Amino acid sequence: MVDPIIVVDRLAKEFPGGIKAVRGVSFDVAPKEIFGFLGPNGAGKSTTLGMLTTQLRPTGGRATIEGLDVLEHPREIRQRIGLVFQESTADDELTGRENLELSAALYAVPRGETQGRIDRLLSSLKLEDSAGRLVKTYSGGMRRRLEIAAGILHTPHVLFLDEPTIGLDPQGRAGIGTYIRELRDKFGVTVFVTTHYLEEADQLCDRIAIIDHGEIRAIGTPSELKERLGGDVVTLTLREEGADLTSAFRAVPGVLDVQRQDGRYRLKTARGEAIVADAVKCCLDAGAPLATVAVKRPSLDEVFLEFTGREYREEEGPSAADVAMRMNQWRGRRP
Ligand SMILES: Nc1ncnc2c1ncn2[C@@H]1O[C@H](COP(=O)(O)OP(=O)(O)O)[C@@H](O)[C@H]1O
Ligand SMILES: [Mg+2]
Repeated sequence: MVDPIIVVDRLAKEFPGGIKAVRGVSFDVAPKEIFGFLGPNGAGKSTTLGMLTTQLRPTGGRATIEGLDVLEHPREIRQRIGLVFQESTADDELTGRENLELSAALYAVPRGETQGRIDRLLSSLKLEDSAGRLVKTYSGGMRRRLEIAAGILHTPHVLFLDEPTIGLDPQGRAGIGTYIRELRDKFGVTVFVTTHYLEEADQLCDRIAIIDHGEIRAIGTPSELKERLGGDVVTLTLREEGADLTSAFRAVPGVLDVQRQDGRYRLKTARGEAIVADAVKCCLDAGAPLATVAVKRPSLDEVFLEFTGREYREEEGPSAADVAMRMNQWRGRRP
């Protein structure tokens, strides 16, 4: 087992006023891993990322990157990490290449190496043909690719991305994932990414931590997480709530577990098809009018429901003002 590159041990953040944004999270990230933090708005993703990138002071626990403590060695850590913010940071009035030249200067990339690195990244992110155009003519996806290039220009060992695909259409979202994987493969960078898109976490990440209300609820590869559900889920929704059918469903052969939420029942089973007929019969026998029946292979939204007890909602991310504030803090404190 290789030594982890990021070690997080009971890390916590309480904001003034008693807001416990992060309540003691622990996890390790292996070198070259793509590690995802998945959770709804307000879960504590950006706060965790903020502590790991030395923008926010933890109020409990500790975290190290390449063995360096975030509280003791912020300068050294900043030289080893790259950061891509949720909000657009590229300058509209400059060309793509000019934006990268500006980032190279900010990050003190050696002059002799700047153009070579920029060319390599422009080509990796398929921006070579648009490098001479003003960024204001770019699509959302192109802009985001340019910002990722800027984040990796100083060859960081760990790249942090906070909701890199928020606001992009599904096609643009899928593209970004592919580029992030390619960059990891080509440059050997470790990636820590937050997202509130289940599908993105599923496709992009080697491992995922599901975070809710400042706590990690589950951690593993996407398939491990789904396997923990132990098979399919059959969801039966009744037209009106009526009598409790839990014990009737429990008695159906092959049903492993039943959860009831208002007029909806989730039946866990190894093979959904095998129990549907019997489950529907339970409803008929009880005279309960059935609205819908669905058989689902475990997906991450089922995983989320299982570990948090509530339905996943893909809401809007943090406000633009919130992000702009963090960005300015970061810029002002860059070594
Ligand atoms: N600077 C701050 N001061 C007070 N509360 C904050 C601050 N930043 C975030 N929070 C609160 O901490 C919680 C977690 O926020 P955040 O980490 O931004 O969540 P996420 O990135 O998962 O959407 C939220 O309740 C949020 O309102
Ligand atoms: Mg956030």
